[in-house]
Amino acid sequence: MDIKEAVKERHSVRKYLSKPIEEEKRNRLLEIIDECNKESGLNIQLICDDPDCFNTLIARYGRFRNVNNYIAMVGNKNISRLDEKCGYYGERLVLEAQMMGLNTCWVGGTYGKGKCKADKDSGEKIVLVIAIGYGEETGVKHRSKPVDKICDIPESEMPLWFKNGLKAAMMAPTAINQQSFRITLAGEEAIITAKGKGPFVNVDLGIVKYNFEAVSGHRVSPPISFS
Ligand SMILES: Cc1cc2nc3c(=O)[nH]c(=O)nc-3n(C[C@H](O)[C@H](O)[C@H](O)COP(=O)(O)O)c2cc1C
Repeated sequence: MDIKEAVKERHSVRKYLSKPIEEEKRNRLLEIIDECNKESGLNIQLICDDPDCFNTLIARYGRFRNVNNYIAMVGNKNISRLDEKCGYYGERLVLEAQMMGLNTCWVGGTYGKGKCKADKDSGEKIVLVIAIGYGEETGVKHRSKPVDKICDIPESEMPLWFKNGLKAAMMAPTAINQQSFRITLAGEEAIITAKGKGPFVNVDLGIVKYNFEAVSGHRVSPPISFS
């Protein structure tokens, strides 16, 4: 599976099998997490074989079942654009997981916040988590806003790379599927901005930017990483 297929095949999965993630895949995920942490300054952590975080009323109410593994998106509160970086690097992990045959779900609200096992240094916070494992199902395609609510460039005037990036952005997960972002073209550059004020709007922005870049092969402005 390549990245384009991963973007298309990825859907939120909330029910998981008891099958543990194999050591080889855990190690691969840890390697990528390490790269992401070095690049971003975040303190992303993989927590495996821990059912407690999703064994709470709110998680069950949120239709989660048998979540034994999760990725905690942790970072210092002083990191600039912390939420956006969590979205960007978390989505990289989500798509890598999809390519390894694993399923995921971004979770900002419906998990046991007091039971998350991630380590936090002083000044750090857990922005949100990503459930990960072998799904009982593969999830379903979300409903999407019409293109003209997201982008004001007529399709006939879009370069192919931009069209591909836009499609990938529209397939990105966003909190309560709000898709509160706009994409435009300025010369040779795609610009993506967040609209609205929901609590996860900037996490969504980072996720959408990652999807756009991964499929179009073009950097989005303003760039997320400065390395
Ligand atoms: C930042 C963020 C926070 C989310 N928080 C939750 C959550 O607390 N509970 C939940 O069940 N789903 C959560 N989701 C999953 C979204 O509901 C889901 O991504 C959206 O409905 C689109 O569906 P899809 O991921 O299947 O494409 C979250 C997604 C994102 C991106």
